[in-house]
Amino acid sequence: MPLYLDFNATTPVDPRVLAEMVRVYEEEYGNASSRTHRFGQRAGQLVETARGQIAGLLAVDKNEVIFTSGATESNNLAILGLAKWGARENRRHILATSIEHKAVLEPLAYLQKCGFEIELVPVPSSGRVDPEEVIRRVRPDTLLVTVMHANNETGVIQPVHEIGKALAGTDVYFHVDAAQTAGKLVAELQDLQYDLLSVSSHKMYGPQGIGALIVRRKGYRRPPLQPIMYGGGQEGGLRPGTLPVALIAGFGKAATIARAEHKQWLSKCMAIKRSILDQLNAVEYQLNGDPAYQMANCLNVSFLGVDSEALMLAIQDEIAISNGSACTSADYKPSHVLVAMGLSQERIESAVRLSWGPAVDPSLTIQPLISFVKNAMWK
Ligand SMILES: Cc1ncc(COP(=O)(O)O)c(C=O)c1O
Repeated sequence: MPLYLDFNATTPVDPRVLAEMVRVYEEEYGNASSRTHRFGQRAGQLVETARGQIAGLLAVDKNEVIFTSGATESNNLAILGLAKWGARENRRHILATSIEHKAVLEPLAYLQKCGFEIELVPVPSSGRVDPEEVIRRVRPDTLLVTVMHANNETGVIQPVHEIGKALAGTDVYFHVDAAQTAGKLVAELQDLQYDLLSVSSHKMYGPQGIGALIVRRKGYRRPPLQPIMYGGGQEGGLRPGTLPVALIAGFGKAATIARAEHKQWLSKCMAIKRSILDQLNAVEYQLNGDPAYQMANCLNVSFLGVDSEALMLAIQDEIAISNGSACTSADYKPSHVLVAMGLSQERIESAVRLSWGPAVDPSLTIQPLISFVKNAMWK
C-alpha cells in the first residue's frame, strides 16, 4: 500500500475505536430511542456515555452535544438553523472568511439567495485572517460570525480566540468549524469562547458518518436554533433520526483517546513535520500559509514549474497526497483557499497538501515525490 499522507481528508480508524464499534455492532443492537426493553435502554446508555466522553474532550456540558452525521451537517445546522430565527428578528447580516470550507460557504451562498447579506472577510497571503478585520465589520444586524479553527488545506490556525473574546459580551452568535482541530488542539478548544462548534469524528481517528454540533448555552438559554430536518424528535428535536449507536460509541472512544493522548499526537506529528521539511530541502519549494500558525500535522507546498495534478498521479502508487479539500478535488478547480490568499496561478497550480498523524513512521521517505519534482524542474 502507498504511504498515506492525506489525514486532513480523513484519518484511519484507531484500532481501539474499531474494536469498540465491532463489540457494539455484535452485542448492542437496540435502537437508542426504544425505551420499552433492555436492548433499547442499553443502546441509550451507550449514546449517553459517548455524549459524556465528547463533552469531556471539549469541556462542555453533556446536554450541549448534538449528534449529527459530520461537520458538513453540523455547519448546515448551525448556519441554516440560526437563519430562520435571524430572518424573523431582522438580523440578516452574516460574517465569514473567504477561506471557509464549502460546507460553510455553500449554505451561506444559499442564504444570500434568500435575502441575507453575507460578507466574506478577505485573508492575506499568510492564510490567517486578521481578527480586527472581522470584528470591525460587526453591525447591529449581524446575526452570526462563522470562522474555522484550522484551515483544511493550509493547516493555518485562525484567531478564533480573539474573535470569540470580542463577541462574548454581545448578542452576535459565534460559530467555529473545528473539523480539523477537535481532538488535536484540546486545551485551545476547551478555552475557546463560542456559541456553536462543529466537530467531525473521522478527522480524529473515529468512524466516518458521525459528528457533533456543540450548542453552548448563554446563561440558561440555548441559541435559538431551529431544526433543518423533521422527524422523530431525537437530539432535543434539533436533529431527528435513529442514532447510529456503534458510530457514536466509536466517536466517544476516539474522544477519550484524544483527550488522553493529544500531547503525544503533537510531539509525534512535529517529528514527522521535521523529517518531511528536511527531505524537502533537496528541492526548491515554497510553503503556503504562515508556518508560525500551522498545525503540526500538515504542510501545503508549491514546487514552481511542477504541475500538482501530474505529481499526484505519478506518485500515487507510492504516496497518497492531495491538493485541496477532498470534497472538491474531483473537479480540478483551483483551490478557493489559495486563490483567496492571493497566491499566483503558478503557485496554486503547483501546490500539494501533505497531512499525517502519529501512526506514520517518522523515518518515512517522500523520495518518490522528491525525484519527480527534481525531474520536472530540470525539464
Ligand atoms: C474544515 C472542514 N469543515 C468541514 C468538513 C466536512 O466534514 P465532514 O466530512 O465530517 O462532513 C471538513 C472535511 O474536509 C473540513 O476539513
